[in-house]
Amino acid sequence: MLIMNFLNSLLTVLELLFVFSNFKPTHGRGFPDEGYYSNNDYDNQEAIDPKIKIALGKLEHAPQWVPDWPDSFVKMGQVSGVALDNTGQLLVFHRAGNQWDASTFTPRHVYQRIGDPPIPDPTILVFNETGELVDMWGQNLFYMPHGITVDRVGNVWVTDVALHQVFKFTPTQRQKPALTLGEKFIPGNDDNHFCKPSAVAVLSTGDFFVADGYCNHRIIKYSPDGTIILQWGKRSGRDPFTLDVPHALALAEDRGQVCVADRERGRVACFRADNGTYSAGYRHWLIGSRLFSVAYSRAHGGRLYVVNGPYSNVPVRGYVIDFTSGRLIQTFAPEGGFRNPHDIVVTPDGVSAYVAELDPHRVCKFVDEGLRNQSKLEKVTTQTPVKPTATIVTESVSRAEVRGRGGAAAWAWWAGAGWAGAGAAAAALAALAVLALLRARNTGRKGITRRRWEYGHGEFKLRRLLERRRFTRVHSDDSDDEPAPMLPPQPPANA
Ligand SMILES: *[C@@H]1O[C@H](CO)[C@@H](O)[C@H](O)[C@H]1NC(C)=O
Ligand SMILES: *[C@@H]1O[C@H](CO)[C@@H](O)[C@H](O)[C@H]1NC(C)=O
Ligand SMILES: *[C@@H]1O[C@H](CO)[C@@H](O)[C@H](O)[C@H]1NC(C)=O
Repeated sequence: MLIMNFLNSLLTVLELLFVFSNFKPTHGRGFPDEGYYSNNDYDNQEAIDPKIKIALGKLEHAPQWVPDWPDSFVKMGQVSGVALDNTGQLLVFHRAGNQWDASTFTPRHVYQRIGDPPIPDPTILVFNETGELVDMWGQNLFYMPHGITVDRVGNVWVTDVALHQVFKFTPTQRQKPALTLGEKFIPGNDDNHFCKPSAVAVLSTGDFFVADGYCNHRIIKYSPDGTIILQWGKRSGRDPFTLDVPHALALAEDRGQVCVADRERGRVACFRADNGTYSAGYRHWLIGSRLFSVAYSRAHGGRLYVVNGPYSNVPVRGYVIDFTSGRLIQTFAPEGGFRNPHDIVVTPDGVSAYVAELDPHRVCKFVDEGLRNQSKLEKVTTQTPVKPTATIVTESVSRAEVRGRGGAAAWAWWAGAGWAGAGAAAAALAALAVLALLRARNTGRKGITRRRWEYGHGEFKLRRLLERRRFTRVHSDDSDDEPAPMLPPQPPANA
């Protein structure tokens, strides 16, 4: 009995602690989750470091920007995603009048404007190769569009970070999703919930991956009916499974790889698509520490196309990396530069690349004429040995980090979580002294949205949390979806 009482009070303390831990004032910095630059602190690309100029000068400046594409008559909001369908048409996913800014979510990832109707405008715009709008849809469905992709049979898959959901639309049914994953407006990190999911990638078998996303930092693989096959990724640690905002996905099916844009760690991390084993990582000082999106083309033996993000004084550009050698080979940007590129897609032959930009609200097209001629001639690519200029990170994996169906107990997702076992007990005891304070504080600060999160989806009890050992994941990581503070870029040394 005594032990039971003790345990009960321990649980209460932990519960309060856990609630309290969510009140860290991590969202007061006034820059949006999306981590983009506002107009005021745009990185001036002309004032770049000589070292950067030299490095850029060594790269091939391709593919070339195509001005006046698409039709300037078409107006869009923040453009979050681009995808290509099987006929080469471009699908653009944009937010119309909605914007993701510092007030969009509560600190607990709940959308603040749940009562509003969904975006009434078509959020999916379809352009043909010459940049003419040929179709539009996706009205009255979404709140905060993020990722988009088209699978082999023409299904369109999208993610909405406000809804915390992933949707599949078949080619004949655009008003109602054929598959919905996640619970509307309810963030979470179990098998039935996402938290701001960012992207989807669909294998030709129909199995698909979801990058989940801004707060859970995991990749989930599903069978076509939406059953989880395996998942991996965690926020803390030093191994290659540590992700900080997996922001976009690219498949290299000819290599059996799924590659992740690990946004806030500035790298592309590639894993075996069949079992999630880590294969390789790509990063480069010129790209910097923020990498927003990745695409893959088989051209020239396999290339990765990436866009970086505003940070420090590295220029915001597109880069092309040789998959095998890890060598940086090309760089591209529109005239005047990028400011906040958010997604990239490339045609399978590598000829055309498209970049979605959040702000300015636009899509940029790039064409590699040299590659077009080569793909026409079906020229055999010769494998010339090249000196890598980008680092291929090949960290060895010391323990199995991939959980299969059914969830092995040894799965190390929680290895980085700080609040386990004896540590939690000790912390709880130490906190007894401040219990009263916490209680007062909690009472004062309980809000509707928080109640919604805590009590809105069933028994959200600490006991259950402890059983699942999940409570540290969602709740103490509130700040992790935020990028590094968006300080204005430092002036270069010679400025
Ligand atoms: C794009 O669409 C416009 C208008 O429907 C059409 O005139 C043009 O030929 C199309 N371009 C291609 C490449 O299909
Ligand atoms: C994945 O498959 C490869 C090849 O069969 C194997 O070497 C590797 O150990 C597997 N990884 C896991 C986690 O099962
Ligand atoms: C591609 O081929 C066309 C003629 O087919 C030629 O005019 C053009 O210069 C070539 N471009 C490149 C980059 O080789």
